[in-house]
Amino acid sequence: MAERLINDGLNKPDKDLDLRLRPSRFRDFVGQKKARERLELFVQAAKGRGDVMEHVLLSGPPGLGKTTLAYILGEEMGVNVKCTSGPVIDKAGDLAGLLTGLERGDILFIDEIHRMQRAVEEYLYSAMEDFVIDIMIDQGANARSVRLNLQPFTLVGATTRSGLLSAPLRSRFGLSIRLDYYEAAELELIAKRSSRILDVDVDDEGAREIAGRSRGTPRICNNLLRRVRDFAQVKADGKITRTVADSALTMLDIDEHGLDEMDKRVLETILHRFNGGPVGLSSLAVSVGEEADTIEEVYEPFLIQQGYLKRTPQGRMATELCYRRFGLKQEGPQGRLI
Ligand SMILES: Nc1ncnc2c1ncn2[C@@H]1O[C@H](COP(=O)(O)OP(=O)(O)OP(=O)(O)O)[C@@H](O)[C@H]1O
Ligand SMILES: [Mg+2]
Repeated sequence: MAERLINDGLNKPDKDLDLRLRPSRFRDFVGQKKARERLELFVQAAKGRGDVMEHVLLSGPPGLGKTTLAYILGEEMGVNVKCTSGPVIDKAGDLAGLLTGLERGDILFIDEIHRMQRAVEEYLYSAMEDFVIDIMIDQGANARSVRLNLQPFTLVGATTRSGLLSAPLRSRFGLSIRLDYYEAAELELIAKRSSRILDVDVDDEGAREIAGRSRGTPRICNNLLRRVRDFAQVKADGKITRTVADSALTMLDIDEHGLDEMDKRVLETILHRFNGGPVGLSSLAVSVGEEADTIEEVYEPFLIQQGYLKRTPQGRMATELCYRRFGLKQEGPQGRLI
């Protein structure tokens, strides 16, 4: 199976690099113009009033910059960012500990907020709304509720699945920002910025080639840049040109449209095994040997955005573009192959 370039467990040196490549201010954050403008305005307004910023929900597929934006918000507001993730907080007490440790204006960043347990989530409601938390102490006859007052803080939640967020939680965010896949031109800027930071020699066409094959995702763009750099070092004179990038990416099984091996497997399975669909998510998942959640969160959004796949009430279906892309012809409303 192709190396996972999307959410791969980065080793330590890669993690350090990731930190170096992460923009820390709005001015270095490329693309997502609408989201950036709204957040900048929000920050300016809060700072102007000397107020604490409202709660922000960031949603969108992996690797598009949610965590990056949470840290940028902290930097721009001049506050601390405390970081945790939904599944890690498994008791109300853990949440209370985090919340009581915050200073006025601090940001509590909860990644994968849709995976927080409902019982814990309920404690967040009053914390977000009134900056208080009522926790139960002791059990049985001695059980009593104690109210803790919190410093006003900003919750920044990130999720790849905003649809899974409960209505009460969602409604407590003052601002909800959705990130979308990046344009190739924006990714080209990101590739160039990263190559300056990493001191990699890449020409315009080389950067464009990498950007065009990055699945609309900055994280993938940075990962590909590093792999192409290694290739250039060993197989060429260290300089990344279009030809060098193309050879390296072809070797990594990443085609000229940016589809990786799993993308192709998903589409080919729908075309060949299910006659173009419709096919239900779970049957598709079993056929390609991947978790249904991963297909839905990671692979599908890009394939839909690129126009290869559509979701219908009956299931997933290949589009005409998908047929053409794989050199097949489509016939009739059911999309049967001929
Ligand atoms: N707009 C951007 N400009 C430049 N680099 C970016 C931008 N957005 C993201 N990156 C780069 O991509 C990497 C991945 O971004 P980030 O970790 O913020 O994604 P994420 O949305 O939090 O992903 P996940 O859902 O997997 O947690 C960052 O380390 C950063 O280097
Ligand atoms: Mg993240």
